[in-house]
Amino acid sequence: MADPMNGIKACVFDAYGTLFDFNSAVARHRDAIGAQADRLAEMWRAKQISYTWLRSLMGAYAPFWQVTGEALDHCLEACGVTTPDIRDELMNAYLRLDPFPEVPAMLQALRDGGMHTAILSNGDPGMLGEVVKNTGLRDHFDALYSVDAVKVFKPDRRVYALATDGLGLAAREICFLSSNGWDAQGAAHFGFQVCWINRSGAPRERLPGLLARELRSLEPLPALVLATSATTRS
Ligand code: LAC
Repeated sequence: MADPMNGIKACVFDAYGTLFDFNSAVARHRDAIGAQADRLAEMWRAKQISYTWLRSLMGAYAPFWQVTGEALDHCLEACGVTTPDIRDELMNAYLRLDPFPEVPAMLQALRDGGMHTAILSNGDPGMLGEVVKNTGLRDHFDALYSVDAVKVFKPDRRVYALATDGLGLAAREICFLSSNGWDAQGAAHFGFQVCWINRSGAPRERLPGLLARELRSLEPLPALVLATSATTRS
């Protein structure tokens, strides 16, 4: 097993792609969408995230729900998907994403070990509240932090500061978990101890920020952060 991480007082998670599988939305409607389903899923996520970056640069923040819908509209047109009601079906599915298989037990182990846990996400409060409620995981988090509080998207430093300010912790006391390489780099550059959850075996992003760990899933996390934290947590 990898060496434990020292002095971690809270684990803060990215939501989409890290805890919740955004591909599960399209997967549930694969037959209705047809041959373009995989292309649509990939394009939708890429467009959704690029719209957040572009809106931040434009100074034109809009809630992630709106951005996600606008990205979907573009991608449905680009992929030529005209299935009736598919837009509403896919947006509703985004509120009912499947957690990755290891997530419930991993969160329970952290909670049993006394670790503080939170989500820090581009998702607006309504979306985040729905997805954690619908997955039965709300009680596993002390707090849900949304970029909506600062009206700018990741990887702006003001977003990561929501967690240090909210939890009253120094950045290096927070273990931040994200499957998104660019988010992991942004969070590491901010000063968190970051585990990149590299679910797809992607190459590292060549961006500022030094990652603490790279894992293929969240399953090893409790062993990494609980081993040493009992003596250091207040
Ligand atoms: C989030 C996106 C980046 O939850 O996955 O913030």
